Amino acid sequence: MTVALVSMLRAIALSSVVSLAMAKSACAETITKNVVIIGGGASGAHAAVRLREDFDKSVIVIEKKSHLGGHVATYTDTSGKTYEYGVQSYLEVGEAVDFFARFNITVGVPARIPLTSVYADFSTGQNISDYVAPLAADRSAALRRFLAAAEPYESMLLPGYWDFPAPEDIPEDLLLPFGEFAQKYDLLAAMPQMFQVPGPGVPDWVDAPTLHVMQVFGAPMARALTGAAPTFTPTGEDNSELYRRITALLGEDVLFSSTVTKAERNGDGVKLTVTGADGKKTKIVGDRLLISFEPTPDAMAPFDLDEAESAVFEKFTHSKVFAGIVKHPSLPANISIVNTVPTAAPDNYLSFPEAPILARFDYMGAPSDLFRVLIVGDDTLDVDGAQKLVRDSLSALLEAGTIADGDIDDLVFAAFVDHGPMHLRAGLEDIKGGFIQEQYALQGHRSTWYTGAAWSVQFTTLLWAYNDVLLPKLLESL
Ligand SMILES: Cc1cc2nc3c(=O)[nH]c(=O)nc-3n(C[C@H](O)[C@H](O)[C@H](O)COP(=O)(O)OP(=O)(O)OC[C@H]3O[C@@H](n4cnc5c(N)ncnc54)[C@H](O)[C@@H]3O)c2cc1C
Ligand SMILES: *[C@@H]1O[C@H](CO)[C@@H](O)[C@H](O)[C@H]1NC(C)=O
Ligand SMILES: *[C@@H]1O[C@H](CO)[C@@H](O)[C@H](O)[C@H]1NC(C)=O
Ligand SMILES: *[C@@H]1O[C@H](CO)[C@@H](O)[C@H](O)[C@H]1NC(C)=O
Repeated sequence: MTVALVSMLRAIALSSVVSLAMAKSACAETITKNVVIIGGGASGAHAAVRLREDFDKSVIVIEKKSHLGGHVATYTDTSGKTYEYGVQSYLEVGEAVDFFARFNITVGVPARIPLTSVYADFSTGQNISDYVAPLAADRSAALRRFLAAAEPYESMLLPGYWDFPAPEDIPEDLLLPFGEFAQKYDLLAAMPQMFQVPGPGVPDWVDAPTLHVMQVFGAPMARALTGAAPTFTPTGEDNSELYRRITALLGEDVLFSSTVTKAERNGDGVKLTVTGADGKKTKIVGDRLLISFEPTPDAMAPFDLDEAESAVFEKFTHSKVFAGIVKHPSLPANISIVNTVPTAAPDNYLSFPEAPILARFDYMGAPSDLFRVLIVGDDTLDVDGAQKLVRDSLSALLEAGTIADGDIDDLVFAAFVDHGPMHLRAGLEDIKGGFIQEQYALQGHRSTWYTGAAWSVQFTTLLWAYNDVLLPKLLESL
């Protein structure tokens, strides 16, 4: 046979293989994997890397947005300088630094611009000039007292709620309204700072059960703020880089702009229909499902919930969180304008603005003179409402003369992101009725496992530590 003939035959053989493959993909494509992960934020992206790279399991990540990273939001100005307006820095716990290291990302002590706080009522714009913030030394001492009071309960909450006590054994402290807990342990000087970290996300913060505060703040955060434990940021000053590298590593194992539109789940595995932005449907068959997004009843609707599942998810209430970067010539450099109610003056550290709130305008540095804004409200707040709150607050500050005279129409939103539902929590009576155990009883039910903020204390690296315990349990069930 001539060389030409051989290569011609090969070409024919090859082309028939190709056309067969094409015929197959014309029907709905089916992807089969060990673990199907829904959501590629902090916990989902971490789980995907660990399951595939460390535990040798096949995975697919279904991510609603066009990128991984969840609450990370990095803005780049015209000079190429980056600004983080979502996730800022990381608690150094568990294997967190090593996780960055495996992506060749070095980390260091976070660089912070020293800001001077100015206190103003954002609803009237009034300068609350008679407000006296706690002295730094008093604040630190109070945070150390919080840490001492929280530490006995730490193992009930971290790395997850597996060891949370049965209803009759829940420590009274965790059920106390947080304001009472603060008085009991002499924490008032720490309250304003604690409020600024997650507090706007806990409505009625002073009346909320202390458990809610521990779920969004926790002992590790107190350790970090008192200098007892380190925090870090990537030295490259770009929190999105990690997720770009995870995206590159996972390659075709991520479907972006995709959501689950139909699901069948039972003890043997799961079958999903996933719909992409273009309407393209993909069938996915998995041994196990790992849900990593905030499980609100709306978000869980396509998963064909049974009674036990609905009973848990329907008990959650949540906040909505928005973050953005704004610019206005009247906003002063090196200043943080803190939303403060008049009743907080001169030193009532149990008086806070009510949701929906814009917490602060924080200067982000030269050369762009941008300001970070964080807005928290209930489920009815949307992007328009959140931006209106920013505009109305700035307008009030201008009119009251608390900041230099200027035109509200010069306000520019350089970036703005809807962080969606956050801080899922059940009410006091449900907690007393065994909610946490009911919630955790869903782990593994109908081949479905859960990670993410609703399942542990709500910081990135604490959720990675939670994954480090959860994933072996999931694998054992295979
Ligand atoms: C403004 C802000 C600042 C923060 N700062 C810090 C900080 O400095 N340090 C820190 O440790 N933590 C910080 N956090 C908290 C931290 O971001 C969260 O605890 C963590 O991201 C929660 O991880 P997660 O995996 O549960 O959710 P996310 O990271 O939000 O990931 C969920 C992912 O699921 C996707 N998704 C949602 N619904 C669906 C669906 N139906 N189908 C498919 N995909 C879906 C989302 O697009 C997202 O990518 C901050 C949060 C916010 C909002
Ligand atoms: C990290 O760097 C090493 C050495 O240069 C290289 O072999 C490896 O592929 C890199 N890994 C990633 C995820 O970039
Ligand atoms: C607002 O009050 C602060 C003191 O908290 C003061 O330094 C500042 O000058 C006041 N600004 C205006 C515009 O009144
Ligand atoms: C802000 O602080 C920086 C660094 O301390 C300083 O160089 C700059 O002049 C300050 N800007 C204003 C407007 O005060």
